[in-house]
Amino acid sequence: MSKKLFIETLGCAMNVRDSEHMIAQLNAHEGYELCDDAKVADLILINTCSVREKPVHKLFSELGVFNKLKKADAKIGVCGCTASHLGQEIIKKAPFVNFVLGARNVSKITDVLHRDKAVEIEIDYDESQFAFGDFRTSPYKAYINISIGCDKQCTFCIVPKTRGDEISIPADLIVSEVAKAASSGAKEIFLLGQNVNNYGRRFSGEHDKVNFTELLRRVSAVEGVERIRFTSPHPLHMDDEFIEEFARNPKICKSMHMPLQSGSTDILKAMKRGYTKEWFLNRAAKLREMVPEVSISTDIIVAFPGESDEDFAQTMEVLNAVRFEQVFSFKYSPRPHTEAQMMVEIDSELGSHRLSLLQSRHDEILDEMKLENMGKIVEVYFEELRSDGYVAGRSDNNLSIKVKGSEELLGRLLKVKITQTSRTVQYGEIVD
Ligand code: SAH
Ligand code: F3S
Repeated sequence: MSKKLFIETLGCAMNVRDSEHMIAQLNAHEGYELCDDAKVADLILINTCSVREKPVHKLFSELGVFNKLKKADAKIGVCGCTASHLGQEIIKKAPFVNFVLGARNVSKITDVLHRDKAVEIEIDYDESQFAFGDFRTSPYKAYINISIGCDKQCTFCIVPKTRGDEISIPADLIVSEVAKAASSGAKEIFLLGQNVNNYGRRFSGEHDKVNFTELLRRVSAVEGVERIRFTSPHPLHMDDEFIEEFARNPKICKSMHMPLQSGSTDILKAMKRGYTKEWFLNRAAKLREMVPEVSISTDIIVAFPGESDEDFAQTMEVLNAVRFEQVFSFKYSPRPHTEAQMMVEIDSELGSHRLSLLQSRHDEILDEMKLENMGKIVEVYFEELRSDGYVAGRSDNNLSIKVKGSEELLGRLLKVKITQTSRTVQYGEIVD
């Protein structure tokens, strides 16, 4: 009988890809099959996120739960960014944990599995030179890493300390992974990196110097690729060449993530983001001008140390000017090993108040925008069969769309007329 693997994946799309890689390795070399019940698993993995403090706190209570319910001889491994930054401390606090595997070490999974109490958290380990595992969470779309780590030093962010320096994966390796995924039926390719449009700045070893725009061209030329998405680009590197390729290339989905973080140039400086409010507004305006159907999403942090009422008002100003289709907003959370951790925090209640002001203003904007979607015809890639008789997918510009239908719609790109709208999901009818 095969051994069973249960894996819980928290955090970003890169963690999803790391989990896929570990699942593939454990399957190919150790005979593990994926299961969805931790109670019957022989190996339980938690792939953690450490970007904010809350999930880190949750980790230890969760580990306690897994330890109680697991089979007597089952192993527990902690992987990902929290593994990188806490390392040995995890085994000290939860001695039943069998191994700790950092975010930049996931390819060592079959090794640590056999070394009880192993802690592998090297952040300069080079995982840029080999192909990632073949397992895919969805048969319809493929996550593909294009770089590992991050070279920026945003003062609030722990990621450079958990995923290490940025190294681009060679373009030919990426293109061959894309070709493999596309030939197995994944029409949508999702390129991943902490800073995708900085692609090509540093490779490990001698490789073709290819920048992100050129990489997009090469990926879109691969047979079977119909849609390309990517996350996350950095506003600082949104040069004209990149925006023009985004506008011109029909395979690139017209949805752009532009992580603003703050609308105040002073706070952006304190965050070391490298751009000003004006630069951000200029790039967003250029995008909207060149690609009228584009949807723009963003990340915003409120209550960064030193954020005044005036700074926050600037963030609200950008929110009103750009009218983002989606906003991921967070209250600042101090993180270890970051520069901002040494700065004086602002009042927590004031932070919560600002967060709710921002979110309710954005809800108003969404209510206005959803009306504009009524009656529009969009192309939808159907990916998920729901139990309520609906099939769900995303439009090119990333609207979540549901239509009545069955599994024969899965994996197809079809035109849909939007007949009912809400802030988060649109309903429609197939028109072709
Ligand atoms: N390069 C990645 C960033 C990963 S972190 C990207 O652009 O997606 C994802 C988001 O979490 C960041 O954009 C930021 O808005 C938020 N974040 C990061 N550190 C944070 C902190 N210390 N407190 C609150 N939010 C944070
Ligand atoms: Fe973090 Fe800034 Fe990099 S948000 S992941 S240090 S671009």
